[in-house]
Amino acid sequence: MSSSETQGSDPAAQPGQDIMPNDEMSNATGFPIVTRTDFSETTFLLEVEHPQMARAARPGQFVIVMLDDHGERIPLTIADFDRDKGTVTLVIQAVGKSSREMQARCQVGQTLFGIAGPMGIPSEVSHAKKVICVGGGLGVAPIFPQARAFKEAGAYVIGVVGFRSASLVFWEEKFRSVCDEFIICTDDGTAGIKGLVTQGIETAITTHGDIDEVVAIGPPIMMRACAETTRPHGIKTMVSLNPIMVDGTGMCGGCRVRVDNKVKFACVDGPDFDGHAVDFDDLMARLQRYRPQEAAAMERYSESCKRLLVEEEVR
Ligand SMILES: Cc1cc2nc3c(=O)[nH]c(=O)nc-3n(C[C@H](O)[C@H](O)[C@H](O)COP(=O)(O)OP(=O)(O)OC[C@H]3O[C@@H](n4cnc5c(N)ncnc54)[C@H](O)[C@@H]3O)c2cc1C
Ligand code: FES
Repeated sequence: MSSSETQGSDPAAQPGQDIMPNDEMSNATGFPIVTRTDFSETTFLLEVEHPQMARAARPGQFVIVMLDDHGERIPLTIADFDRDKGTVTLVIQAVGKSSREMQARCQVGQTLFGIAGPMGIPSEVSHAKKVICVGGGLGVAPIFPQARAFKEAGAYVIGVVGFRSASLVFWEEKFRSVCDEFIICTDDGTAGIKGLVTQGIETAITTHGDIDEVVAIGPPIMMRACAETTRPHGIKTMVSLNPIMVDGTGMCGGCRVRVDNKVKFACVDGPDFDGHAVDFDDLMARLQRYRPQEAAAMERYSESCKRLLVEEEVR
């Protein structure tokens, strides 16, 4: 079981500090993968040995990972950390070239070339007495450390998680263990209530008239719907934004988002923001910008995989 009990006890590991890829650390061979779990055809978990990162990580932060020395840098949320074991957990959805390559190549005993972080401002674990923690699909992983932190801070935690179907559900027991109430929603009704997470939020708000805060992580369209559900009730709603990121240190401008009509950089000003102030249309439009390049990279990768298969058959 992971623990955040030693939080803040290591003076050498401060939140937000850069931890360099392996060639600049004593670990010259990369960061070993110690566990891999496949949740579905597209979603998998990697637990990676990185004691410094595990000591420094806080809920809400992310890392930038490179699979190999010429791999793309991809931002991934720290879904869990275990300071005793010295590991961090990443949950990845294989959506394009780099994440599919990770899915194909990352096995226990192998290594990740570089992990930089922890990045981003840790989530504020407020003094809220009653919170709803909402995770949609893959968002269930990054919301987990926040739900646990609220629980450890003494809050009454209501977990609301949503999946398309029962076969895609993961971490149900883990999530339940940090929640006082747990609502599962599926699009097709094969588990829990049939409907979207917004229905789960409505149910919780109807039952409890004293919700202080909602935290929602998932696809932008889901986070927008959550913010619109809570807006009429005036409930503070935090969301975690996922724009395109390159350096993760506030230098490239790639992760620009509009919040309260001001420009913010999600990597250094976030990734958590007030959901009622986020310009989700702008976020979604910017996420589409590189679709042709992403499709071309995926096609080149698929072609090279096919070629390798043919060469192996010939041998
Ligand atoms: C702070 C943050 C935390 C994230 N946490 C997770 C996580 O825990 N698990 C997970 O599976 N995914 C996470 N993502 C998204 C993940 O980084 C992208 O899915 C990944 O980079 C896609 O790369 P690709 O080559 O596989 O796909 P591509 O085909 O290149 O892209 C597919 C889609 O992924 C998004 N994307 C592509 N490149 C980037 C990039 N450099 N930065 C951000 N988004 C990108 C775009 O929406 C794009 O349309 C996170 C993103 C951010 C910004
Ligand atoms: S990723 Fe470059 S400024 Fe945020």
